[in-house]
Amino acid sequence: MQIHVKSAGAAAPSSPLHVTAVLDDKVGVPAGLSEAAKKDWKGEARSWLLLYGGEHERHALLGLGAKKSLDAEAIRRAAAVAASRALALGVESFVLDWTHALSASALAPHAFGRAAAEGLRLATYRFERFRGVGTPAKDQEKELRSATFLGGDAAFAAGVEEGLVGAEAVCFARDLANAPGNALPPRELAAAAQSLAKGAGTRIACKVFEEPELKRLKMGALLGVAKGSSEPARLVHLRYKPKAKRGAKKPRRIVLVGKGLTFDTGGISIKPAARMEEMKFDMCGAAAVLGVFRALQKLDFPHEIHGVIACAENMPDGKAQKPGDVVTAFDGRTIEVLNTDAEGRLVLADALSWASKTLKPELMLDLATLTGAVVVALGHEATGIMGDDGLCRELIAAGDATGERCWQLPLWDVHREMMKSEVADLRNISSPNDGAGSTAGGAFLSYFVGEGIQWAHLDIAGTAWGGKARDYGPKKGASGVGVRLLLEWLRAL
Ligand code: BES
Ligand code: MN
Ligand code: ZN
Repeated sequence: MQIHVKSAGAAAPSSPLHVTAVLDDKVGVPAGLSEAAKKDWKGEARSWLLLYGGEHERHALLGLGAKKSLDAEAIRRAAAVAASRALALGVESFVLDWTHALSASALAPHAFGRAAAEGLRLATYRFERFRGVGTPAKDQEKELRSATFLGGDAAFAAGVEEGLVGAEAVCFARDLANAPGNALPPRELAAAAQSLAKGAGTRIACKVFEEPELKRLKMGALLGVAKGSSEPARLVHLRYKPKAKRGAKKPRRIVLVGKGLTFDTGGISIKPAARMEEMKFDMCGAAAVLGVFRALQKLDFPHEIHGVIACAENMPDGKAQKPGDVVTAFDGRTIEVLNTDAEGRLVLADALSWASKTLKPELMLDLATLTGAVVVALGHEATGIMGDDGLCRELIAAGDATGERCWQLPLWDVHREMMKSEVADLRNISSPNDGAGSTAGGAFLSYFVGEGIQWAHLDIAGTAWGGKARDYGPKKGASGVGVRLLLEWLRAL
């Protein structure tokens, strides 16, 4: 997808569809529109009026609603509506005139351009990898190849570029997440990380730890989860180095950790059959981290950013770990595995403590589809976050800016106590009477975060898929949540 930007007053290229974005004050509605049409069409947010017979082959009005509610999300959604309508019309390119919206908006042109590009690109996302010869022609859409935005200055154009990079990264994460378990075992997820790093030249380095090395490192928690699968575990470490700038401040070291369960059957504590197929999405945390690195191929940040993804498949088998088994994690702590379905926290335990010890970061975030309980508590529209209060505040702000909203859950010492075992150092689930299932997961993870590291845990089990489609998608499948959120958080640091 290409987006060209032309300044206000520049001649619009001819195209099969010309769209004018209009607020509910209807300033900018083209002259020559019939009085009845002007009266009937209210300019409501996300409304669309398609007209024929004017100077353009097709001319559409795209409603933006009230000026006071024209925030980034409204722009993202409006751009997405335009993209979907253009797709439905079967045009391969269109012109979208933002001139009046830009002059009315309180948003800076850069943020405006970014939101518009994100909405447009994300709305055109499709997961077509497995749609082959059997797909009827009527179901095959024409591809939307390019759009021209009118009315933007250089800052707006830069925002568009950045928005496209972010949106492409989200689509990359969606593709990984939507891939079924058989197409993307841990080996392949690690390979995707490796080829991503290759494509970035020297900016991004990648190291993949295979099982012999994981054994040498004594990552018993990660290996315990993978024991029941014929697919070996992988730990992936990505590193992004900022461009050296003279006189610049010392870069901050940040680690992003992702849960990469390429499939989670529950193991011996097996899940019910209904909707088990959704557990191919249990690597959405890892996908989000890889999505961020995909964007880092093209974006400059003054920080040293590390990505660590713990990849495994959780299967029941003669060799699988059993309820009651005790494993020893990388940091030497012993863990009583009371439920093999609470496996995400096990693989993350080794990833977090390895990252703490060897990378010694200042800041560390982990993303994981960790608990069904977070869906009960917050549904599909908010990511549950916990950990350092300052970090949580930053994440909430980044969520508001990107539409990937976050809500803090408590994580107190009393919750950490609940994760102590009678037979080992820790237990991987709390007692059923304790409740607070998402907090219990976070409390368990907190033990593996090194001293002095600011840390937050993002439970994306609700937001990674299954949310209400917001024009920029998706109707079904993985949302790619976390990528834009983390990029915004990094930007604001
Ligand atoms: N991957 C699941 C969490 C999940 C469940 C995500 C449903 C999305 C929808 C995780 O590994 C898991 O199974 N968690 C258990 C924890 C429990 C055993 C304490 C859960 O939520 O049931
Ligand atoms: Mn599980
Ligand atoms: Zn899981």
